[in-house]
Amino acid sequence: MASRYGTCLAFILLLATVAPCPSASAQHTLGAGSSLSVEDHERPFLTSPDGTFSCGFREAGENAFSFSVWYTGAVEKTAVWTANPGAPVNGRGSRISFRRDGGLALDDANGTTVWESKTSGGGGSALAVSLLDTGNLVISDPSNNSGRAAWQSFDWPTDTLVPSQPLTKHMKLVAGYFSLYYDNDNVLRLLYDGPEISSIYWPNPDKDPFKNGRTTYNSSRIGVLDDNGLFLSSDNLGVNASDLGPGVKRRLTIEQDGNVRIYSMKASTGGWTVTWAAMAQPCYVHGLCGRNAICEYEPSLRCSCAPGYEMVDRQDSRKGCKPMFTVTNCSLQASPSPSPEQRYKFVKMPHTDFYGYDLWFYQSVTFEYCKKICLETCLCVGFSYKLEGQGVCYPKSVLFNGFTSSSFTGTIYLKLPIDFNASAPTATARSTAGLACDPNVSVIVQGSPGTFGRPGNDAKWPYLFAFAGVLGVLDLIFIATGCWFLSSKQSIPSSLEAGYRMVTGQFRRFTYRELKDATGNFKEELGRGGSGVVYRGVLDKGKIVAVKKLTNVAGGDEEFWAEMTVIGRINHINLVRIWGFCSQGKHKLLVYEYVENESLDRHLFATDRTLPWRERYRIALGTARGLAYLHHECLEWVIHCDVKPENILLTREFDAKIADFGLAKLSKRDGAAGDSMQLSHMRGTTGYMAPEWALNVPINAKVDVYSYGIVLLEIVIGSRISEQRTAGGERLEKSQIAEVLRQVVASGDIEPLVDGRLQGQFNPPQALEMVRISLSCMEERSSRPTMDDIAQALAACDDEDEHPAYRS
Ligand SMILES: *[C@@H]1O[C@H](CO)[C@@H](O)[C@H](O)[C@H]1NC(C)=O
Ligand SMILES: *[C@@H]1O[C@H](CO)[C@@H](O)[C@H](O)[C@H]1NC(C)=O
Ligand SMILES: *[C@@H]1O[C@H](CO)[C@@H](O)[C@H](O)[C@H]1NC(C)=O
Ligand SMILES: *[C@@H]1O[C@H](CO)[C@@H](O)[C@H](O)[C@H]1NC(C)=O
Ligand SMILES: *[C@@H]1O[C@H](CO)[C@@H](O)[C@H](O)[C@H]1NC(C)=O
Ligand SMILES: *[C@@H]1O[C@H](CO)[C@@H](O)[C@H](O)[C@H]1NC(C)=O
Ligand SMILES: *[C@@H]1O[C@H](CO)[C@@H](O)[C@H](O)[C@H]1NC(C)=O
Ligand SMILES: *[C@@H]1O[C@H](CO)[C@@H](O)[C@H](O)[C@H]1NC(C)=O
Repeated sequence: MASRYGTCLAFILLLATVAPCPSASAQHTLGAGSSLSVEDHERPFLTSPDGTFSCGFREAGENAFSFSVWYTGAVEKTAVWTANPGAPVNGRGSRISFRRDGGLALDDANGTTVWESKTSGGGGSALAVSLLDTGNLVISDPSNNSGRAAWQSFDWPTDTLVPSQPLTKHMKLVAGYFSLYYDNDNVLRLLYDGPEISSIYWPNPDKDPFKNGRTTYNSSRIGVLDDNGLFLSSDNLGVNASDLGPGVKRRLTIEQDGNVRIYSMKASTGGWTVTWAAMAQPCYVHGLCGRNAICEYEPSLRCSCAPGYEMVDRQDSRKGCKPMFTVTNCSLQASPSPSPEQRYKFVKMPHTDFYGYDLWFYQSVTFEYCKKICLETCLCVGFSYKLEGQGVCYPKSVLFNGFTSSSFTGTIYLKLPIDFNASAPTATARSTAGLACDPNVSVIVQGSPGTFGRPGNDAKWPYLFAFAGVLGVLDLIFIATGCWFLSSKQSIPSSLEAGYRMVTGQFRRFTYRELKDATGNFKEELGRGGSGVVYRGVLDKGKIVAVKKLTNVAGGDEEFWAEMTVIGRINHINLVRIWGFCSQGKHKLLVYEYVENESLDRHLFATDRTLPWRERYRIALGTARGLAYLHHECLEWVIHCDVKPENILLTREFDAKIADFGLAKLSKRDGAAGDSMQLSHMRGTTGYMAPEWALNVPINAKVDVYSYGIVLLEIVIGSRISEQRTAGGERLEKSQIAEVLRQVVASGDIEPLVDGRLQGQFNPPQALEMVRISLSCMEERSSRPTMDDIAQALAACDDEDEHPAYRS
């Protein structure tokens, strides 16, 4: 009771200070020492001179209040600005005060200051707080004519813009995990940045900014909704509210469903009508339903689990779904005895897709081929297949951003264990409201051994891969154009647009500040090369990365960004993955996956350890596949130019990942130089360089084949070729080495050549094939095989893909 009286007393005192005459009309401006208690929430703290806006306490939940600005006539005081979003104060004893030192502060019942304007100090007593007719809450010195506010709410938007309130460079509108902001390339975007994934979904990430009608060229980064209901942004976006015209009270708000809408207020009722929305199809918002779940919008938005998956938390469908079967652990090397065909089947879901997380992207492939790829790739959890004149195939590593829409033409095929009963367990899922699996899913034929070859061999083949990926370190000066001849001004051919999503989807732009923090101010150096220094970094989600600070990067931000859109889509399991980049003025950085187990040279040439044969063979095969990907999947446009053991990184499982494409050049295939290119000076590393580097001839992908041949031989013999000596201690010429190899290949007697440290523990047919390949790589360049030939020849003598059960 005593506290009750205390509150009453405070209330009376408050009336005495804030509103000496309770019947007086609402204030527009208050001086220092004013305050309002939450118990008095019926009264506004301030009202704008023309009465349009009010500010004060607004009920945000049961006994929970926020300090907000709202349109005076709006139902339920719809907030257009809030001091304490997500941190409401108690409905008893909380208070907003304009302190004597000039700071506006919101104090919770227990005395905690939940929010403050940080304007206190230094001549604060002259300050006053006012609510303007624009809805801007301003703290300024009324006697100071500079017109500059010490603080204003327009500088700190929450989830809403009102007319004339600008959204600029350092601001963003936020609702939960969703935000509307100006990206580093000056484009206004919507981003989902959740606990598991982060993904841009507006404007359409499948298209480049220009195709979306935006521009990256205007760096003013400002967007304003005007009094007529036209929202204009410096990136060329212009949208009209459907009730275009003056005299309507509007707001532009990002909402908890990730959509941005313009609302117009009905003057008579104070209710709101949507007059524009960024996303016509709500399920295209990313992150809505969580992992392994599918968003549907018919008639209202709901999340359901993919067949074979069940809800993680029945109370909260947004937490996603978990598999109801045992997931194969792909990091365990032993291949289980039944073949993939005998272990998996696919469940078909028409008109459904899971956005992003593609292992690869194939074009011009048959359905059987796509299925085979997924079947044989342990990490593949399903694939999307779409026939658009030609087959487009996306094997998926994770199922996120799922949606079903009758207008979507693709089909997703989910990989499930063959003995898993897809139809029965879904019933459990269906028992919870809003969580039904599509009863129309049908089980298609189980994996059959279909032909794993190259469907068709027209000029389109080899298929194109595209994916958020890596080109290692770039010598950006030399990157003329991309795999697909993409520049920021030229839009990609529509058939290739699908690849574009990778760039904006999983590939991030970082700020310099973020990377500085992630690397502890560039503390731990991992290595350095011609193009820059690599540092160890930890991103906020605990992910360890390697951050490369590029030196000597020519060109401005736009060129850099254009290059990144090319690089960002090249990815392969045997290439070091790129997570993103930073381009801020002179700062140009690349963020890579961190590969744990050093480079190949440290293992191959070390005196204290011996790399077992099995690993050697896998590294040789992986490296060949990575290079083949660069040369062939990109139609021979990407040349590494510096293949050597130092540039082959090893994972914990000893999988090869090619790094440091410091000399990589993407050359335009149809350009003047044909499929070769002119380089102004020699590149590469002595000992691994093809002889044609010394000649004045255009360089092509065969330089990598040569270098690979040397590396391959080093893998077999366990030491550097350049350090080989004759009995007399002289250096062996390449021709002498080739002669030795010819004899070995002819006789088949491989043992004396193989690294003695293996003590005979190696696979002779594999070793012989490796030597044979190595020899052919050293030939005159027109006689050298392609990396694709090599990868196939090596794979042909792989004994691991066979079923151990059938072996002796
Ligand atoms: C005050 O209450 C809030 C919740 O209303 C709580 O988060 C905060 O820790 C409390 N502070 C103190 C000092 O008790
Ligand atoms: C007026 O305000 C500006 C900005 O707050 C400040 O820099 C300036 O010193 C003030 N002038 C006077 C006369 O107080
Ligand atoms: C950039 O955008 C701003 C704001 O929309 C506009 O005023 C300005 O003219 C634009 N600049 C150029 C060079 O187009
Ligand atoms: C918005 O309306 C104005 C005036 O009618 C018109 O000129 C403009 O083209 C419209 N913009 C868009 C994006 O529809
Ligand atoms: C897979 O196996 C590896 C090695 O035994 C283990 O470290 C890892 O935790 C396993 N992963 C899962 C998801 O079970
Ligand atoms: C699969 O489900 C069907 C129908 O619920 C049932 O008849 C069948 O026995 C189940 N099969 C297995 C292998 O569980
Ligand atoms: C299942 O398919 C049939 C025929 O295509 C269709 O009429 C029905 O609406 C579908 N059911 C659902 C739940 O999608
Ligand atoms: C790297 O490889 C060695 C074998 O040479 C192994 O013992 C070690 O655990 C590996 N390190 C990591 C981080 O995987």
